Amino acid sequence: MFADSVYIGRRHALREKLGSGLALIMGSVDAPINFAHNVHPFRQDSTFSYFFGLNRPGLAAFIDADRGEDVMFGDESGLDDEIWLGNLATLADQCAAVAVSVVKPYAALQEVIAEAVRRGRDVHFLPPYRAETTLELSRLLGYRPNEIGIRASADLVRAVVSLREIKSEVEIAEIESALSIADEMHRTAMRLTKAGVVEREVVAGMRQVLGRNGMLEAYQPVFTKRGEILHNFNYNLRLEHGDLVVNDSGATSTMGYASDVTRTLPVSGRFSPRQRDLYELLLRVQAAGIDAIRPGVPFVDIHRFAVLRMVEGMAEMGFFRGDPLEVVSSGAYAICFPHGLGHQLGLDVHDMESFGEDRVGYDNQFQRSQLFGMCSLRMAKCLNAGMVLTVEPGIYFIPTLIRRWSVERRHEQFIVYERFKNYLDFGGMRIEDEVLVTTNGARIMGPGTPKTIAEVESAMTS
Ligand code: GLY
Ligand code: MN
Ligand code: MN
Repeated sequence: MFADSVYIGRRHALREKLGSGLALIMGSVDAPINFAHNVHPFRQDSTFSYFFGLNRPGLAAFIDADRGEDVMFGDESGLDDEIWLGNLATLADQCAAVAVSVVKPYAALQEVIAEAVRRGRDVHFLPPYRAETTLELSRLLGYRPNEIGIRASADLVRAVVSLREIKSEVEIAEIESALSIADEMHRTAMRLTKAGVVEREVVAGMRQVLGRNGMLEAYQPVFTKRGEILHNFNYNLRLEHGDLVVNDSGATSTMGYASDVTRTLPVSGRFSPRQRDLYELLLRVQAAGIDAIRPGVPFVDIHRFAVLRMVEGMAEMGFFRGDPLEVVSSGAYAICFPHGLGHQLGLDVHDMESFGEDRVGYDNQFQRSQLFGMCSLRMAKCLNAGMVLTVEPGIYFIPTLIRRWSVERRHEQFIVYERFKNYLDFGGMRIEDEVLVTTNGARIMGPGTPKTIAEVESAMTS
């Protein structure tokens, strides 16, 4: 937990932003794997963690903007909990540690809500992402489950996004700590990656790093020589000389903050000339994107700028023709880069996307594009100092997409299909780091996980 002043400050700031009404913040409950007592590792709701820091299932809390108080609803552990789970800290003590002095039994929550509604007070709540929370809100508030999403409070979402998206010093330190474990995972993967090894053996090595450090994955890792399959969660291929492997793996810090790092590795330990040329370009694209980041600039412009550098470089290599600006604006570029340049990161690896991507990455100045590729950009809006973002360009040769577009002759004035067809066995590559937006630019976070060709090749042989 952070010091109580952190939580006091956050709740005070929320009251200021909301102005009036009650914010009902729901904690998570245990999530069964296959029966009630066999559960996934407990993961607290990120917004509940943000305001209350308590990592315990079965809680809900009010932040009261009218009365300036906070109330926790939850039950003390009983004898059974002590017998089966050990001598737990009392809920009252845990609440005291985060400066919440009013603690009521969970069963009191429904009547407190009913009383607030009778008095005509606004009860704000966030859109839930777990069915259990939807059903519980439905029970507590008396709305049908399918009404919960539309009745969630846009004011509360806006207020929470505006707070959570600006990271404080203590949060930046947590993300750095998650990045230092991600660094150890990636260095381990670099040592283990070699011909003859099966992908899952390398994933196991990374998971051992997590286990030793008492940390969890921030998301399901991607470790695959079929890197052109963007969310490939199979780890069953045997690595061979000449393969390229995409390793997108990150840890969660002890306080629940994420890291999200991608490196691309040549299985033979040395990039081939063909891999080297595209990898060097990808490094330059990422550096150009990061260099362009500063407060006030829309991230969609950073995305377009990075894409333009990619297209210019690939045009020199014969993949595109015509005006690079038109290759970008037409969407032709997305044949090899169908996702967005990045997203915000914090307590969630895609921070706050449980509220809806558009409510985090877009605002009334920015409309999501309909264009293939651009429509996958999770973050478009203007940057502010204190935001943490990923910058993760990739170059992929997706056989199905190349063949489909080629048959359709889509963007054929811009795309040199013959050239792309020579790369159908290439796979994909991505490079991903976190950056902190500073007052006049951006700082790359993390301890410097090997990234240049010389660094990666050296880490793979060390
Ligand atoms: N690892 C998930 C992502 O890069 O967005
Ligand atoms: Mn990412
Ligand atoms: Mn990633």
